Amino acid sequence: MRHLLDVADLGGAEGIEEVLRLTDSFVEVSERAIPRVPALRGKTVAWLFYEDSTRTRLSFETAAKRLSADTMNFSVSSSSVKKGESLLDTAKTIEAMGIDAIVVRHASAGAPHRIAGWVDAAVINAGDGWHEHPTQALLDCYTLRQHLGSLDGCRIAIVGDIKHSRVARSDVQAFHALGADVTLVAPPTLLPPSLDGWPVRVSHDLDAVLPDVDVVYLLRMQRERMGTGLIPSLREYTATWGLTNRRVERLRPEALVMHPGPMNRGVEIAAEVADLPRSVILDQVRNGVAVRMAVLYLLLGSGADLPAPTPPAAAADAPVVPDPAASPEPAAPDAEPEPARA
Ligand code: NCD
Repeated sequence: MRHLLDVADLGGAEGIEEVLRLTDSFVEVSERAIPRVPALRGKTVAWLFYEDSTRTRLSFETAAKRLSADTMNFSVSSSSVKKGESLLDTAKTIEAMGIDAIVVRHASAGAPHRIAGWVDAAVINAGDGWHEHPTQALLDCYTLRQHLGSLDGCRIAIVGDIKHSRVARSDVQAFHALGADVTLVAPPTLLPPSLDGWPVRVSHDLDAVLPDVDVVYLLRMQRERMGTGLIPSLREYTATWGLTNRRVERLRPEALVMHPGPMNRGVEIAAEVADLPRSVILDQVRNGVAVRMAVLYLLLGSGADLPAPTPPAAAADAPVVPDPAASPEPAAPDAEPEPARA
């Protein structure tokens, strides 16, 4: 496996745990006075962002730089896409410059999968339509593990616009794989038409769910992906589904509040609630850099693939990933020659 397109590519709990363990090393690197290792020197990572992004893009970029990779920026708004260039031609053009990985965000589900079929470079899905956002799920798992020790048995409510949320689709799979018990809380209009095969419970009563959970994970109303008429008004949405100052009191004292960002303060989360000590939203952002370093390193750095979803006996043969943070000197990848440039 050469790409990270879906949470399923990680190969279940074992693969997710491997990324989280590697992330520990990169958190340590990020805390150094000079937070940089030469692990990906000579590698080039390109960004292909067809949709707006603040934290995902900056965090991938920071991750690549901390691993000493070269980066190639592509901004749709100032590119030949504006002149009608297709996704295929754009991907092939970027690849011809000599790149090792492409990080793709696209409004259409499946776009990164198409690109993965066209290019030799590793493709990382940084969010495709309503479909998936696997690195967000990894950083959420890492943040939960950091605060709770383990996700096993942890009760998580994901609240809000599940229907249009790629974050929810990836998080549900990753949280479930690590043993968490997930409840979706939303009005019926903001749930997918079918939840067949989703390992979740569903509730339409946030007040009833809050006292019983360890984590409440809020989602933004994804108005750019939404038809009209799904909720009566934002004010009514907030009154019934928002984590207001009054409602947050229903949580147990140690329960955490999470949000993938960008937040709409005053809609799904009260402005003050976002800044409470129980809110770990900035930890999510901080951990995003180290998690993405781990993903880039696994795909590019060691020559090792992410572990395939194999039974434990076969997994024992999986390539061993060296500890990239053990010394300031690079692990094996640095010995590799510069990639050829077209
Ligand atoms: C999310 C996204 O773009 O999918 N943001 C993110 O990557 N942190 C969620 C959202 O847009 O609401």
